[in-house]
Amino acid sequence: MKRIWTSKTPEYLGKKVKVIGWVNTIRSHGKIIFIDLRDRSGILQLVFDEKNEELLSLAQKLRAEWVIEATGTIQKRPKEMINPNIETGEIELYPDSLKILSKAKPLPFAIDTEGYEISEEIRLKYRYLDLRRKRLQKNLKIRQKVIQFIRDFFQERGFIEVETPLLTKSTPEGARDFLVPSRLHPGEFYALPQSPQQYKQLLQVSGIEKYFQIARCFRDEDPRADRQPEFTQLDIEMSFVEQEDILNLTEELFIKIIKNLFPEKKITKIPFPRISFKEAMEKYKTDRPDIRNNKKDKNELGFCFIVDFFLFEKTAEKEISPSHHPFTAPKDEDIPLLDTDPTKARSWQHDLICNGQEIGGGSIRITDPEIQRKIFRILGHSKEETEQKFGHLLRAFQYGVPPHGGIAPGIDRFLAVVLGEPNIREVIAFPKTGDERSLMMETPAKVKEGQLKELHIKVLKKKEKRKK
Ligand code: AMO
Repeated sequence: MKRIWTSKTPEYLGKKVKVIGWVNTIRSHGKIIFIDLRDRSGILQLVFDEKNEELLSLAQKLRAEWVIEATGTIQKRPKEMINPNIETGEIELYPDSLKILSKAKPLPFAIDTEGYEISEEIRLKYRYLDLRRKRLQKNLKIRQKVIQFIRDFFQERGFIEVETPLLTKSTPEGARDFLVPSRLHPGEFYALPQSPQQYKQLLQVSGIEKYFQIARCFRDEDPRADRQPEFTQLDIEMSFVEQEDILNLTEELFIKIIKNLFPEKKITKIPFPRISFKEAMEKYKTDRPDIRNNKKDKNELGFCFIVDFFLFEKTAEKEISPSHHPFTAPKDEDIPLLDTDPTKARSWQHDLICNGQEIGGGSIRITDPEIQRKIFRILGHSKEETEQKFGHLLRAFQYGVPPHGGIAPGIDRFLAVVLGEPNIREVIAFPKTGDERSLMMETPAKVKEGQLKELHIKVLKKKEKRKK
């Protein structure tokens, strides 16, 4: 007999069905036992009573979270037993057979709550159980819907999704790289991409013209509420566009996502305001302004774009570093400033902000190899270093490079904002903790001595390291 989902059972009134799932709750009154069976789709009440003594005694053995299979006839509940709060509240199943597929130890925490009250360490250690809770199941489903919507949106507009390598060369996006040692080339390393930035630009040289990718990115930086060492971007790049084309497309996408998948949400202002960096700093004292009319309204989404950033900024570590990344084009009229006072040059960078959070960043890119070289020089790279690190890009730009630009909204950040979650870990199936660990898989982890040998790697003991 084919198994059906509990949510479909109301369509089978008077018919025999097979259902499979977890024991959600047990209400035992001795001679009658009610079991709520839970599957991905919902809950169904199973009733065991004296009419079938054998099954009743088997049902008495059941415990929460056991996995069971039951076959029986779907019946109408007595009027006083109707539960209007659930989809299957008017019916119940009288099993004529019951199979225990697997038993379960008592769970380390409750899964019938929102879960915020439970220590995150224990939630992440048992993430596979944590994910049984309704809220996280909903988050995963919505995440998939948003990604599917994005894929359809771009496909309809002639974009091609291209997968780019994960074993690559460092792309400077301002964080440390995760390195991967090469076995075949002792002492050499790949880097996991901080974003597909250089590949998507190279794809423009290839004539792809309209590229997108749901791309995994890796940055070795201290995790925060809105940061993970690995995260997902909607990465976009287009040829023959101006900044306003990129902003319009991004705006259209987000309006459509909200209208179709989050109809209860209200967008503060359409079109999304374009605010210059200067104006944002003057008016809001931040380049991530929260433009909502009512910040307490959980259904309001205040989107805006910040534009006219400076090309460079001063950071805690460096006197001069790119405000975004070194591939962002300076404004034409500010190009002479690169030789005189580069810190005054403004750029074609654009950030997408929602409710005071940076959701995405992008720019029109440099396509003139000479300007690109100049930027690297200003950033302190020697000629050789520039050649070694970025030679591929500079070479590619000699073979007919179209003007191009793009943006990359962070999927995790957008979902956390739109779902009202306090951090992006709540919208990622298996996130890392604040110190970049997986408590569930217990990673990072030591590897066998032999593996290290193959990679020509010797791990220094902590003491030795300190001596150096
Ligand atoms: P940028 O570095 O601004 O741009 O990143 C774009 C967006 O990615 C998200 N994001 C993160 N999300 C979670 N955890 C992180 N550690 C993290 N870091 C960034 C944010 C951010 O706005 N290649 C360029 C894009 C471009 O120029 O087209 C880039 O990566 O939502």
